Amino acid sequence: MRMMVNWNGRITPLEEACLPVFDHAYLYGDGLFEGIRIYSRNIFKLDPHLKRLYDGVRHLDIRGMIDYDELKQRVIDTAEAANAENAYIRISVSRGTGIGLNPENIDQTPNVMIAITRLALYPPEMYESGVQVVTVSTRVMTPDSLDPRIKSIGRYVSNIQAKLEANRQGAGEGLMLNAQGYVAEATGDNLFIVSDGVLRTPHPSCGILKGITRGTVLEIAHDLGIPVVEDWLTLHDVYTADEAFLTGTAAEIIPMVALDHRPIGEGKPGELTTRIIAEFRQRVRVDGVRIGVGVR
Ligand SMILES: Cc1ncc(COP(=O)(O)O)c(C=O)c1O
Repeated sequence: MRMMVNWNGRITPLEEACLPVFDHAYLYGDGLFEGIRIYSRNIFKLDPHLKRLYDGVRHLDIRGMIDYDELKQRVIDTAEAANAENAYIRISVSRGTGIGLNPENIDQTPNVMIAITRLALYPPEMYESGVQVVTVSTRVMTPDSLDPRIKSIGRYVSNIQAKLEANRQGAGEGLMLNAQGYVAEATGDNLFIVSDGVLRTPHPSCGILKGITRGTVLEIAHDLGIPVVEDWLTLHDVYTADEAFLTGTAAEIIPMVALDHRPIGEGKPGELTTRIIAEFRQRVRVDGVRIGVGVR
């Protein structure tokens, strides 16, 4: 695979791509992004990712965005140009180009970037042994400030702060709470716990990104007949859970075996978690949009 970038419709190798220094996302974080994976030439859940992106475009009132089908075609064309078999796609949309906060004073022509690259969030052995997580002091943003359901670029400064906190404690991930102290999500992943055979995960109103992988796990649970509750959870629920795991496009599904140095369940990947991961690995190859097989 060759790493390729599509900048406003023009495809080049990654090293040749450049962007204007007054891009509003670069200056102010005023934009949105999506991370999508390609598995065996299948762009997994491409439509749900694009739908979330366009919801964000509407919410942030980004004007003049290219239409959905055009973006979808650009993603497919760029993945084909990269000859991507298994890869990570980053889409980034900024409001436009110009200095000064006021959108009225900038060129409101969104810059649309698609990059085809590779991304590994955690070391491979962690998928076998599970990740150790700590609760961090950085809270998720409140919806009256910036709704966490929007995958906006600027919000990630706080997630990076949370990740740094986890790093300082030598943990693999940081668990963020919401302003009321309820469990929200990890820095780039959603959380699931298993208690007495029931799968529980924070409700979207807790201040989470409504993850596409989270949605896939809910579909799997439905198909396998596993009861699910979307709820407001406290740390108590996680400390006393039988199993836990994290989900995200970049993270995929990773067992979570400890929180705040306390083992969850038996402190190793749980049975239900393992079943769900196996089912997920089947689905990522078929549920999505296939790209061509031509070598360029
Ligand atoms: C804060 C946050 N929560 C959850 C997720 C998981 O979302 P998805 O499964 O759509 O990748 C992500 C991934 O980007 C994220 O950044």
